Amino acid sequence: MGPFASRINFNTGVLEQYDAKVVRKLSDMASMFANDQAYKQAVSAEDELVYEVFEKHVPEEEGQLAHAVTVIYPGKIGDEYFMTKGHFHTKPNTAELYLCIKGRGGIIMSNEQGKVSYLEMVPGSMVYVAPYWSHRTVNTSDEEFAFLAIYPADAGHDYGSIEQTGFPKLVIDKNGKTELIDNPKWNKS
Ligand SMILES: [Fe+2]
Repeated sequence: MGPFASRINFNTGVLEQYDAKVVRKLSDMASMFANDQAYKQAVSAEDELVYEVFEKHVPEEEGQLAHAVTVIYPGKIGDEYFMTKGHFHTKPNTAELYLCIKGRGGIIMSNEQGKVSYLEMVPGSMVYVAPYWSHRTVNTSDEEFAFLAIYPADAGHDYGSIEQTGFPKLVIDKNGKTELIDNPKWNKS
């Protein structure tokens, strides 16, 4: 593969020349949100779009840099903001760099020891997700939250362990302010 270019539209947050798009609706996120009752109601009322990932294709091999733009739409389940599923990398010693393009949000990260880090993002913010830390992005605003992610193309995505355990903390809206609270479903086993 040779050099190539693409372009992010900073007004919409969309990667204009994407090769593939991943679409996640509420129904794709069963058991991810803490409030099961609110989740079921929301899915049956309207199976809303939660986020989309616009990807460039590069070979999934060592030395290549995968990159993608994610747009998380505004919304909440109960008081928990719309978010991505979150994952560890299958190759856990791989890092990732995020750059916020549009809107406001944050990244919740945790490691195998249960340590938690939450970092806010506004346009221009960069977050370095260190190796061995799982990561999930959250839209804390009432507009679209878009960011670029760059990561080793062979890092791989492990969603399963997050589906089982969740993150130790939930990112919620409390009277218009963003707060982190303990996740009642958190289970380290
Ligand atoms: Fe990642």
